[in-house]
Amino acid sequence: MATPAELAQLHAVLEPDELLHLQRLLGSWSLLADLSFSDLVLVVPVSGLEGGPGGFQMVVLGQIRPNNRPTRLNQDLVGQSPSEDDWSIVSEALRRGELVRGDIEGISPAGPIASEAIPVRFGHKVIGVLVRIGREEVRPATSSYERTYLDAFDRLAAMVSESAFPFPEADVGTEEAPRVGDGVVVVDDEGRVEFASPNAMNAFHRMGVYSLPEGRRFVDLGVEESAVEWALTTARPVVEEVERRPDVMVLVHCIPLVTHGSVTGAVILLRDVTDVRRLDRLLLSKDAAIREVHHRVKNNLQTISSLLRLQARRVPAKAGREALHEAERRVRSIALVHEILSREPGDQVSFDEIVVSLVQMANDSVVGPSKVEIGVEGDLGDLPADVATPLAVTLAELLQNAVQHAFVVDRRPLRTGRPTKRKAAGVKNQVGRVGVMLAHDSDRLAIEVRDDGIGLPKGFDIERTNSLGLSIVRDLVVSQLDGSIEMRGVPKVDGGGTLVRIEVPTGPRR
Ligand SMILES: Nc1ncnc2c1ncn2[C@@H]1O[C@H](COP(=O)(O)OP(=O)(O)OP(=O)(O)O)[C@@H](O)[C@H]1O
Ligand SMILES: [Mg+2]
Repeated sequence: MATPAELAQLHAVLEPDELLHLQRLLGSWSLLADLSFSDLVLVVPVSGLEGGPGGFQMVVLGQIRPNNRPTRLNQDLVGQSPSEDDWSIVSEALRRGELVRGDIEGISPAGPIASEAIPVRFGHKVIGVLVRIGREEVRPATSSYERTYLDAFDRLAAMVSESAFPFPEADVGTEEAPRVGDGVVVVDDEGRVEFASPNAMNAFHRMGVYSLPEGRRFVDLGVEESAVEWALTTARPVVEEVERRPDVMVLVHCIPLVTHGSVTGAVILLRDVTDVRRLDRLLLSKDAAIREVHHRVKNNLQTISSLLRLQARRVPAKAGREALHEAERRVRSIALVHEILSREPGDQVSFDEIVVSLVQMANDSVVGPSKVEIGVEGDLGDLPADVATPLAVTLAELLQNAVQHAFVVDRRPLRTGRPTKRKAAGVKNQVGRVGVMLAHDSDRLAIEVRDDGIGLPKGFDIERTNSLGLSIVRDLVVSQLDGSIEMRGVPKVDGGGTLVRIEVPTGPRR
């Protein structure tokens, strides 16, 4: 189904702020439907008031049913163009800019339905018509609650035609809009309660107020009054959450009733949100528990890496020592991801932060005279932990390789004991450069690590190497993440060095 914005665009007669006003009306009109016990339909003109040769055209932008009465409209009218003959009260309301009462034909098999067309003004311009379908439902109102609701509706309808409702600060979204069924209180211009619905009485009871509210102000009842007072003095709507006892929360939504610019009272919707908030709190504490677990995992990993470091000190053989150091570094790169997860809610990690720490780690492991500069471009955005962890380890390996192998003076330092003639580019230029390029779009991630060092050894093939670092990378990227690795030397003319490119799909399930 088309959204109001799409429908309006399709028919292109509304200015953006006019459309926004109508969207606000759609966001807050459940109140109007319930107070009037009627189906409401919002209609906008399509081709100007005069109309073309085919007559004046209109389109239905929205439709809502009351929660407290059976609907009169079984069909969905949104997007339809009602005929001017059947909906003549609507075109009349548009032309005259006044409320018009009369029958609407052709929408019910039971025959014409007595309805009301209320012009919707924005500034001085009539931009649409709010149609209340089923006016005859409203006999001379019998109960006081029907009378109160209908009176409140009439006052709000007058505000709609005076451009005073919806309020400019009303939300466009409809999800959180409170409904009359939650509990409604009507107060006069001094904040004295004229009427409280049974559900509002329940909310008062939950707040510990048992005396009859009629004729009294919220303060007299012992209820926080600032929201009501604010709405009455500023003529602006207010939403406030009142916490009465530690375990009772009531959402107070005050809508001032404004007649010709002055406030004559307010409709107050009360909603007991205790259970909702309790659930929120539970969720929050579950979130906190998950963060705590990540925190502990990180601590444990850091302990493991410290143990490895301690152990490395006691190993006399250099190769063994180095192996333990490598293991320590790998554990630390996994700990990084858990550290970030322990700080942020949810299971998404900002990969940027991980990259900063990994670069720092690589810089710290640069030894000897060579200087290496590592630059980062682009980002991978927020990633789920099960993608971020293998990618963090992968990037750590690639950076480590760049700082460890690309800028050495001698490829075979241990075997020959003397430097070869082949000089590393980085050493020649004094500074070796490593560039990390990150990119992502809707269905894949790409990481590129490029250095301007000595390039790969002759005959090197990533598919066949069985050295540990790249085997880990291959396992993580290809087997775990279903991605691909390309690793090649960069020709001298293009600056030399090595380029590694990793691509990982991010579809629904890799
Ligand atoms: N950026 C690079 N520049 C030059 N040579 C590289 C680069 N990256 C990798 N190599 C070569 O590829 C080899 C394999 O790398 P790999 O990471 O698998 O093992 P390693 O770094 O030697 O040991 P480790 O298991 O500790 O990582 C390296 O020994 C090195 O010769
Ligand atoms: Mg390596």
